[in-house]
Amino acid sequence: MPAIVLIGAQWGDEGKGKATDLLGDRVDYVVKFNGGNNAGHTVVVGDKKYALHLLPSGILSPGVTPVISNGVVVDIEVLFHELEALAARGVDVSKLLVSANAHVITAYHRTLDKVTERFLGKKQIGTTGRGIGPSYADKINRVGIRIQDLFDEGILRQKVEGALDLKNHILVKVYNRRAITADEVIDDLLSYTDRLRPMVADTSLVLNRALDEGKTVLFEGGQATMLDVDHGTYPFVTSSNATSGGAATGSGVAPNRIDRVIAVVKAYTTRVGAGPFPTELFDESGEFLRSQGFEFGTTTGRPRRCGWYDAPIARYSARINGVTDFVLTKLDVLTGLEKIPVCVAYDVEGVRVDEVPVSQSDFHHAVPIYEEFPGWSEDITGARDFSDLPVNAQNYVLAIEKMSNARISAIGVGPGRDEIVVRHDLLE
Ligand code: GDP
Ligand code: IMO
Ligand code: MG
Repeated sequence: MPAIVLIGAQWGDEGKGKATDLLGDRVDYVVKFNGGNNAGHTVVVGDKKYALHLLPSGILSPGVTPVISNGVVVDIEVLFHELEALAARGVDVSKLLVSANAHVITAYHRTLDKVTERFLGKKQIGTTGRGIGPSYADKINRVGIRIQDLFDEGILRQKVEGALDLKNHILVKVYNRRAITADEVIDDLLSYTDRLRPMVADTSLVLNRALDEGKTVLFEGGQATMLDVDHGTYPFVTSSNATSGGAATGSGVAPNRIDRVIAVVKAYTTRVGAGPFPTELFDESGEFLRSQGFEFGTTTGRPRRCGWYDAPIARYSARINGVTDFVLTKLDVLTGLEKIPVCVAYDVEGVRVDEVPVSQSDFHHAVPIYEEFPGWSEDITGARDFSDLPVNAQNYVLAIEKMSNARISAIGVGPGRDEIVVRHDLLE
């Protein structure tokens, strides 16, 4: 099973980091193909807890070559910060490869992210403020800076000056901020080139050759399906393709080389930032999920919005991503609930709608139609086999599996590396 894509099925924070870590010792390469340091993956290994933002979670597995491919936007200062912090904790970070074609997040991207959000006021997206959107906007506008530009000072100067020309007018005249000089940006970027040079590679070539040799490559998505710039709840999305198709364009590995698509899905739903969320709870049930599931952002510390499982979203993810297997996480968080509602369809202005509506206004007005399942009170964190789960927990899993259009192959019952029930081998 050489090329596997692992993505989030909902609005992020499904536990992709843990799922990647689970497969870590059986894969040769782990590739981050989209996003940047807007991601926040918490991985618990024994009594150690790691928070990863820009680096793929696979870096924690000895033997794995971690790769940041062309689809990523790289804040180089953050990159070295994270590498140093991991190295200080004894993680081998020496094998990291970074694509020469990946784009760079500069000081002006970070500033623009923050000032545009402030400008939007109540209409803001609630971005992570890391400069992700402005960096991708420059990429699409063909005024971005790529990693390879750092190795040609003349080209770098030309590009930074070109990009700042218009941006400084906007910063000064629209946002009343000080202008950013090309020199400060260039000096900052050039201060990293010596350390960066050995990591920079043609990662598409490296990955394709690895696949030719029968090596196993795992593509680890940041963010998630409903945050995808094309298929998510636009404009309340991130600026990259977080769906499985993004793994191909974001890495230079063709779609017909991808053998399996694993979607990580929470046993309920969470969202950080603004935008529609039909099953969101504003009562004590939402508070229960937030406190039991410790639903606070890894990147920004913001409390996550919480709601029940939304089966149309899982079905939508199965369709958009070509999901072969779901990893259902955080089932243990539901322990103690008498009844567990699951959204099976929506009511849109009095009409039953079974799939995620294509019209954003309809999705904004979608009212969940719930089916209730009996809960369980037994502690399930020790379960390792499906039959170890209380019958009501088994029935809950089987019911949402049926509604979600792909098999549930693994079930998370706690944050730890071994707190998992495997029903089908994810790599076989
Ligand atoms: P990611 O962004 O998709 O990698 O997910 P995050 O790391 O942002 O959020 C998932 C959180 O849930 C992390 O704190 C994980 O340690 C934790 N987690 C993952 N799987 C499980 C699980 O099955 N049960 C519980 N209780 N926690 C889990
Ligand atoms: P992981 O990989 C949850 C959300 C932000 C905001 C929107 C746009 O940990 O699942 P951006 O800074 O990307 O321009 O913000 O997307 N967002 C995430 N929400 N998990 C993430 O990553 C996210 N990355 C971005 O909260 O609503
Ligand atoms: Mg996260």
